[in-house]
Amino acid sequence: MEFSQLLLRPLLLLLILLLFRSTQSASNLFREYIGAEFKNVTFSDLPINLDVEFHFIVSFAIDYTNSSSSPSPTNGEFNIFWDKDNLSPSQVSSIKSKHSNVKVAVSIGGDSVGNGYANFTVSSPSSWISNAVSSLTRILQEYNIDGIDIDYEHFKTDPQTFAHCIGELITTLKRNGVISLASIAPFDDDQVQSHYMELWRRYGHVIDYVNFQFYAYDRGTTVSQFMEYFDTQSSNYEGGKVLASFISDGSGGLSPQNGFFTACARLKSEGKLHGIFVWCADDSKALGFRYEKQSQALLAISH
Ligand SMILES: *[C@@H]1O[C@H](CO)[C@@H](O)[C@H](O)[C@H]1NC(C)=O
Ligand SMILES: *[C@@H]1O[C@H](CO)[C@@H](O)[C@H](O)[C@H]1NC(C)=O
Ligand SMILES: *[C@@H]1O[C@H](CO)[C@@H](O)[C@H](O)[C@H]1NC(C)=O
Repeated sequence: MEFSQLLLRPLLLLLILLLFRSTQSASNLFREYIGAEFKNVTFSDLPINLDVEFHFIVSFAIDYTNSSSSPSPTNGEFNIFWDKDNLSPSQVSSIKSKHSNVKVAVSIGGDSVGNGYANFTVSSPSSWISNAVSSLTRILQEYNIDGIDIDYEHFKTDPQTFAHCIGELITTLKRNGVISLASIAPFDDDQVQSHYMELWRRYGHVIDYVNFQFYAYDRGTTVSQFMEYFDTQSSNYEGGKVLASFISDGSGGLSPQNGFFTACARLKSEGKLHGIFVWCADDSKALGFRYEKQSQALLAISH
């Protein structure tokens, strides 16, 4: 009796430790934006590793009129601005039925519309919310889309109004069962952060991932700078699943050629790699998606 008790206690401890580690362990989530640049890229162009959770994020739906000459704000009525000829409802169905590990999200907002910035513009919060809920529900259901990503980068409202409108939009779409996942895509800019951190403070509980745009930092970002930025943003979005990211045209941040995967391996060994996302498939196509393959291979091992 004495002996078996002595043996049991360390075994129990070990078991608890193992359970703890597995809930702590990093996610194998890979996400990629697609369709903003009209380069005819399709879902089936991308390599999809069976051992990752793979999210396409079609970009963008915007609450502007879709007139090509002078788009104007619609107070929450969303229109499709992505390359819908190549990313159609039947193509969504087809990629999802071929790959059970694939989900599709739509990103709303984005940097620009027509020749100007896609400004977050609200004439009345309650009508913005109800217009956004109904117009996005229509699009999400027509395309069989699973989630939304919030990517506004320019604001005509204060942080409180942004947080209220977007937070209620996500909450309502989730409550109605229209979406199962939501993410936000901030970057390191005072105005942007003030809006997204207020949203996080009030509605972080309905936001599943933080697609932090690490590629908006300087082009020469080093591995150690990247690690620092990652820690800073993980504390800004405390408790959030902050994803590592790179841009495939090489215009900013820590590039795959300069150590992005070294940084990811380090995060992974520390149990902090919640996933990787890429902007964007439209540009990666020319590279044969080699860094998408490498990202997924890294995420897939022993998760
Ligand atoms: C996309 O495909 C269309 C139709 O085939 C073609 O006219 C257009 O030039 C293509 N665009 C690019 C950027 O390849
Ligand atoms: C603009 O939106 C209208 C109404 O939703 C739609 O019928 C039309 O096809 C859209 N045009 C373009 C170019 O997307
Ligand atoms: C967004 O706001 C800026 C600054 O006020 C303005 O110059 C721009 O035209 C607006 N964007 C659009 C698409 O109207």
